[in-house]
Amino acid sequence: MTSDALTLHRPEIRVLDDAEAVADAAAALIIDVVARRPGAVLGLATGRTPLEVYARLRAAAAAGARLDRIRSFNLDEYRGLPPNHPASYRAYMRRELFDAIGLADDRWHIPEGWGAPEAVADAYEAAIHDAGGIDLQLLGIGENGHIGFNEPAAPFNSRTREVELAPSTRAANAADFPPGEEPPRTAITMGIATILDARRLLLLAVGARKAKALAAALSGPVLPAIPASAIRLHPHAMVLADPAAAALLGA
Ligand code: F6R
Repeated sequence: MTSDALTLHRPEIRVLDDAEAVADAAAALIIDVVARRPGAVLGLATGRTPLEVYARLRAAAAAGARLDRIRSFNLDEYRGLPPNHPASYRAYMRRELFDAIGLADDRWHIPEGWGAPEAVADAYEAAIHDAGGIDLQLLGIGENGHIGFNEPAAPFNSRTREVELAPSTRAANAADFPPGEEPPRTAITMGIATILDARRLLLLAVGARKAKALAAALSGPVLPAIPASAIRLHPHAMVLADPAAAALLGA
C-alpha cells in the first residue's frame, strides 16, 4: 500500500441470519480456498469471534478435509507470556485449531511474545514474504475498531511491531486470564500495511457490541482513528456480519 493507498474500494458485505451462519460461511470460504490451493497461506485471528469457525474447521478435518498442508500466520500475540500460558495465542491456536487439523509446528507462525521486539517483527515480516504472502486474512474487529492489535491511531503504513494495548482491549480480554492475572500491557501485531498486503480479507463481526465499530469502519471516514476502516483500501475485502453487528450500517 503505497502510491494507491487512498483508492477506496467497497467491501462485499453479507449480513447473515445469525452468528452460526457467519461461522458457517467463513468456514466454507476457508475450506474452499484450501480445496483450490492445498498449500494456501492463511492469516488467522484469535478472540471469541473465530471460535465457531475453528470448530467447523476441526469438524471438516475430522470428516477428511486435508487442512494440514496450509501454512498460517496469526495476527498477533501478547508480549511477556510464557508460550504455554493458557491465554497466549499460541495456546489458543493449538487448542482450537492446529492440533486437531494436524498442522505441523513448522507450518504455523505466531509472532513471538518474547525476545527483542524489533527482531521478532522483522523476522515475522520476512517469513510472510518468504511464504509468498497471505492468500486470505481472517479478521475480527475490536469494539474500538481495532484490527489485529492495531489500536486507534495506528498508521496505515504500519508493519509488524510492538504496540501498547488500549485499556478497553485489556478489559475486553481480561476474562481469558486466570483470576487475579491481568492481560499484558503490550503485544506484537501485524501492522495495517501487513494486513492490507494479504490477497483477500475476511472480516467477521457478530453481536451488538460490534455494531458501532462496524458502522464506523464501513460507513465513516477512512482514517487511522478507525483502524478497521483500512479494509476499504483493499480491493478484495469481504465482511460477514450477523444482524446485531450490522444494525447500524447505513444508519
Ligand atoms: C485477535 C485480534 C483482535 C480480535 C478483536 C475482536 O487475534 O487480532 O483484533 O479480532 O479484538 O475480538 P473478539 O472476537 O474476541 O471480539
